[in-house]
Amino acid sequence: MKIGQFAECNNISIDSIRHYMDMGLLLPEKKGSQYYFDKRCSEDIKDIIELKTHGFSLNEIRDILYIQRLATPIAYEKNQYYKGLYENKYKEVLEKLRELKKVENKLSEKINEIFNKVTSCNNIGLDINVLSLLVCPLCNRNLLLEECHVKDTQIFSGLLKCKCGRCFSIEDGIIISDKSEFMENPFGSDIEKFFIDYLKESNEDFINILTKDIWWLSEYFKKGLNENLTVLELGVGYGVFLRNVYESLLDNMIYIAIDHNISILKSLKEMLTRINPNKRVIFICTDVMDIPIRQETIDTIIDVGGVVTHNSFLLQDMDKYTKDKAAIFGSYIINENLPMGSVFQGLDATHFTLRNVKGSINKIKYNIIEDRVSKEFSLTGRYGVESDEKNKIKIYTCFLKR
Ligand SMILES: C[S@@+](CC[C@H](N)C(=O)[O-])C[C@H]1O[C@@H](n2cnc3c(N)ncnc32)[C@H](O)[C@@H]1O
Repeated sequence: MKIGQFAECNNISIDSIRHYMDMGLLLPEKKGSQYYFDKRCSEDIKDIIELKTHGFSLNEIRDILYIQRLATPIAYEKNQYYKGLYENKYKEVLEKLRELKKVENKLSEKINEIFNKVTSCNNIGLDINVLSLLVCPLCNRNLLLEECHVKDTQIFSGLLKCKCGRCFSIEDGIIISDKSEFMENPFGSDIEKFFIDYLKESNEDFINILTKDIWWLSEYFKKGLNENLTVLELGVGYGVFLRNVYESLLDNMIYIAIDHNISILKSLKEMLTRINPNKRVIFICTDVMDIPIRQETIDTIIDVGGVVTHNSFLLQDMDKYTKDKAAIFGSYIINENLPMGSVFQGLDATHFTLRNVKGSINKIKYNIIEDRVSKEFSLTGRYGVESDEKNKIKIYTCFLKR
């Protein structure tokens, strides 16, 4: 039989046959330039295949075949010889299994350790006691909890339904509006990557002004903390303000973090709960104009550097949520150089004058307790606003009270 036919009969590739020949496992006769495989070769290949299924390596198989061929043992000797071989192989396999078992246990321990770390970040649900704060943003009726997974006092998943048809879902403890559109987070769940990019892309003046303003505001915020406080942050983003005050939040106060970007909220929740899982932060993925919070329940609003997506003073629209004596911590972009009637950041230019911002604060009857205006700077680049050398902006930061 020639090599092709021999390979085909035994269902083995020609390359394998050649390899077995190179190793001396198969010894076909060579006639001219061709190899011929006889009955001996057929017996050898059957042995090779069987010994392979018993876990013998090709080198071991070669040794067995050599002994078989040269020593041609008698039946009894042959049995003894095979018995020894198989017993040794069996012991070897048992030893390997024991080693693998150890590796399996180690892997399993590691997976549990990683899993527990990951789940401990996500095992903070929505505190069931805050349900009384939630209402339908359309008709102000209570939201009914359905199809929920609750453990202890934490809601991990479920639906918050209103009789009018509005529905909010709860996923991993985050409340998500049925009107939210999924927005991709370019940095995945890696918040630190975002900050590195942000620092690289933004100019130094802006970073320094932002840092000092956040410090300034957070000091006033921390001074006013008490256990009964309910705080609402509009556009919490990656939580620059919240990170600065997070450890100071008191155990019983409630901090409601709103953002319409679910993936940013998820990353923020994971990061904060890793730092400290015992703070009562409610994460709500919704537009600021569609917040499912009961009216007149908020003590403090945080509106820091964020939401410029609609053409009115945001705090005016938030007025219904606040109690009589509320406080506001805000920061706003000021651009005095815009021509009248022009549009900046998608909004009417007058929106960005200091006079207009202060006028709006006055209209909603807040007193300015402390405020400050930064120096002028231009803010271009990926995280910038449309400002340039001639068209510089300032930041107005304020602490307001009623
Ligand atoms: C500049 S970041 C806010 C920074 C944040 N206050 C902090 O301290 O890090 C603005 C955030 O507001 C969110 N946002 C913008 N418009 C919004 C809207 N209409 N409703 C809800 N969130 C909005 C964006 O997704 C973004 O995360």
